[in-house]
Order: sequence, then C-alpha cells, then structure tokens
Amino acid sequence: MATTTSRELVTVSAAGTEAAAERLARHLRRGDLVLLVGDLGAGKTTFVRGLARGLGSPADVMSPTFQLVRVYPGRVQLAHVDLYRLVDPDELGDLGLDELLEEGAAVVEWGERLDGPATARVSFEMLEDDRRRLRLEEAPPSWSW
Ligand SMILES: Nc1ncnc2c1ncn2[C@@H]1O[C@H](COP(=O)(O)OP(=O)(O)O)[C@@H](O)[C@H]1O
Ligand SMILES: [Mg+2]
Repeated sequence: MATTTSRELVTVSAAGTEAAAERLARHLRRGDLVLLVGDLGAGKTTFVRGLARGLGSPADVMSPTFQLVRVYPGRVQLAHVDLYRLVDPDELGDLGLDELLEEGAAVVEWGERLDGPATARVSFEMLEDDRRRLRLEEAPPSWSW
C-alpha cells in the first residue's frame, strides 16, 4: 500500500482497502453520513466491511441486494445502504435515513444518488490489476486513514 497524501491512497488488494476503512472507522460517530462513489467492483462493499470491522461489528458484510439497508451493531451502529438498484427516488424516503443517523452512522454505496450534505465522501477509481485509488473527499480535517 503506497500512500501519496493522507487523503489519497492506492491499495493493491481488497485487504488493503478493508484495512484503510478499518482505520477510518476510528473517526466515525453517531450522525455521520459517509458516501461511497465508484463503479461496480471498485471496492465499495469491501470498504464497508472494513468500517464494520473497525467498529467492532461481528456482522458478515455483503451488498444489501434485496434490502436497501442493513444495520450492523458495534461501538457505533452502522447502517449500510446500497442505492444501486434504486429506481424510484421516493424509496429514499422509506429508508428512514434521518432516524438511522439518530441511532448511529450510515455509509451509502452509490452515494452520488443521495442529495444533501454528508460528513465525508470516499471515491474509488479502478486502476490496473487489483489497484484501487481511494480519495477521501469532503471529510472533516481531523479524519485520516
Ligand atoms: N485493491 C482492492 N480494493 C478493493 N477490492 C479489490 C481490490 N483488488 C481487488 N478487489 C476485488 O474487487 C472486488 C470489489 O468488490 P466490491 O467491494 O463488492 O465492489 P463494489 O461494492 O464497489 O461493487 C472484490 O472481488 C475484491 O476482492
Ligand atoms: Mg457494492
């Protein structure tokens, strides 16, 4: 794993992406909303797996294919939202995101489909082979991985 700046890093394996998320999880608090932006297979779900582990959740993290959201217990509760199959924007209202943020933090795959302010945004770029460039965007200054 080669770090270029504290806000950008290139991982060379899924384990590297998971480890970066695990470190970032130290900063997560109740009410935090983290948006993940990147193509299919870029590593968003892998990143959520690391966040959950960092929060001490024993949950088995997979894409919430048939549900929009899955909730993992931990030091901070983590709501895992995947908007890939979102067709009707009205479904967003059914999510109850505000309530989930009162109970814990939330991380959203395909986060660009969500309007409004977020605590942080992580973008994923697929490079050659297993390399992924992760960028921590719009995060509080104290956040790092
Ligand atoms: N550096 C890397 N970071 C994350 N995933 C990687 C990396 N290299 C290979 N992979 C593989 O790419 C796939 C990423 O899948 P996933 O996390 O489900 O992506 P997404 O949720 O963005 O569609 C997994 O099969 C993972 O093992
Ligand atoms: Mg995914």
